[in-house]
Amino acid sequence: MTGRVALVTGAGRSVGQGIAIALAEAGYRVAVNDLDDQRTKQTIDLINSSGGTAVSAPFDVTDPSAVASAIAHAAGELDPIDVVVNNAGIAEGARRGPFLDSTPEDWHTQIGINMIGSMNVIHAALPGMVERGWGRVIQISSSAASVGLNIGTSLYAGSKAGIEGFLRHLSHEVGAAGVTVNSLALGLMNNVGTEIPAMKALLAGVPVGRLGTPADVGGAVLWLCSDPGSWVTGQTIHLNGGSVHGR
Ligand SMILES: NC(=O)c1ccc[n+]([C@@H]2O[C@H](COP(=O)([O-])OP(=O)(O)OC[C@H]3O[C@@H](n4cnc5c(N)ncnc54)[C@H](O)[C@@H]3O)[C@@H](O)[C@H]2O)c1
Repeated sequence: MTGRVALVTGAGRSVGQGIAIALAEAGYRVAVNDLDDQRTKQTIDLINSSGGTAVSAPFDVTDPSAVASAIAHAAGELDPIDVVVNNAGIAEGARRGPFLDSTPEDWHTQIGINMIGSMNVIHAALPGMVERGWGRVIQISSSAASVGLNIGTSLYAGSKAGIEGFLRHLSHEVGAAGVTVNSLALGLMNNVGTEIPAMKALLAGVPVGRLGTPADVGGAVLWLCSDPGSWVTGQTIHLNGGSVHGR
């Protein structure tokens, strides 16, 4: 059992909740973040009622001062953050559609959560990791960042590709300090709406014939956090059932 401390953003449901639970089951003490307090509470209750340790780290990832103060508070309650999983990435109310129908406000919404939001969290937690000589930064990204699709997600995909590129360089800045930095690019997960024809076509291109689960992602996070995972940094790893729509 590790005893290390992990922060998972957007961990009130779906993928983030699965990651938080996987980390807790492996012995990590978990700071659970979500915009929605009820969702946060559900994840914390699930972990604590199973013998794990979880506390709330309430903040909007796009608000740098709220991020910094909540991370400092969580570190006081648990210990300093060793692992950051930037999972929050679906902006509430973000519009999907062709680029030509979008507004600059839409661009800022996507870049705000997927790029700036992740950078806010990393900027607050990384100095402690570097100082202690061990850390993990794991970005939840998307297959959409590396393959072009006509499903109205160009803004989302661009913001995910941007953060992947940023992290590839960051990995070089902090590798010698024992901190690894990687992205997990997810294919279609089991909470995605498959009712629209474009999604049905995408699912037909998944060789394993099923959608991804939060536990699939939790397993990959644990491996990146493990000692054997320490040889991996600066990478984007594709978790997508072999989808022809991911690399
Ligand atoms: N679901 C998929 O098919 C899929 C595919 C590829 C990649 N992903 C990625 O996986 C991650 C999780 O996706 P999901 O489907 O589980 O999303 P979800 O919408 O089910 O859950 C995301 C959680 O993040 C929270 N959140 C939203 N904005 C926030 C903010 N500004 N600050 C803090 N919390 C915030 C929400 O309240 C929500 O509980 C995202 O980064 C997404 O881009 C998902």
